[in-house]
Amino acid sequence: MKIVHSIEELRLQLANAQCPSFVPTMGNLHAGHLALVRQAKPLGDCMVASIFVNRLQFLPHEDFDSYPRTLQEDCAKLEAEGCDLVFAPRESDLYPQPQTVKVHPDASLGDILEGHFRPGFFTGVSTVVMKLFMSVFAGKAQGAAVFGKKDYQQLMVIRQLVKQFALPIDIHGSEIIRAEDGLALSSRNGYLSETERQQAIELHLALRDLGRQAQASAHALAEHLPALEARALQDLQARGWQPDYLTVRRREDLQIPQAGDALVVLGAARLGKTRLIDNLEI
Ligand code: PAJ
Repeated sequence: MKIVHSIEELRLQLANAQCPSFVPTMGNLHAGHLALVRQAKPLGDCMVASIFVNRLQFLPHEDFDSYPRTLQEDCAKLEAEGCDLVFAPRESDLYPQPQTVKVHPDASLGDILEGHFRPGFFTGVSTVVMKLFMSVFAGKAQGAAVFGKKDYQQLMVIRQLVKQFALPIDIHGSEIIRAEDGLALSSRNGYLSETERQQAIELHLALRDLGRQAQASAHALAEHLPALEARALQDLQARGWQPDYLTVRRREDLQIPQAGDALVVLGAARLGKTRLIDNLEI
């Protein structure tokens, strides 16, 4: 497995690849990331993972500085999964000048839910993913990239980006990998204290509950949802969480659902200093 830092080195290493497969990450890899690598491996002739903590997608008060950076351990894990090439650019490699040219996703998708509570987040994500895609796939007729459903809205934003820019990249979604108690694996779980870690499953349980209630009200969903969502939010608050949203949306575009739509329940909430997100398709 080769590890490269600059776009030039990356392109050199990929010179003979016809169809790379790619998993972008911010590192501090866990079993959720490695499942994406395993899924990506057979999708192309050179499996590339990137590790880059992207400043553009963090708000000033967020955890950019403290985000765990564990490059050596990450590379050992990637090598064990049969990854061929790791792209781990320094900030000066990927952003030699301030990145003033950016990709803004459609507001109807990019400014709701995560985008509402983390303004600019999906612009930061879309911009870095576009740049990573251009670094990995430039000159290739075909490629594949794998993203986790853990970041459900992110996956949708990336699908829209690829479609609208007609990029020859197949986007694959990967199921959420959870701990034994059901908590979705996340690099940010490492911020939780032992007590918080035990409590963390409550977010998932709240989503499951809300999903069950939505299904029970499926005949008059639009009418019942606001009250169900408000109660779910209050319940989680009463347990000491600070929820941003707990909501049932239609899978197709994350808008308010109507009876008969395929649904996804999404939530984001802070437990102490740690912000967790989760979702489930129902
Ligand atoms: P990061 O949070 O490191 O996640 C990298 C990829 O791993 C994403 O596609 C994410 O959805 C997936 N992932 C994380 N936890 C998962 C889990 N428990 N189960 C399944 N997949 C999981 O997402 C990002 O980085 C960044 O926004 C990035 C796309 C790299 C752009 O900077």
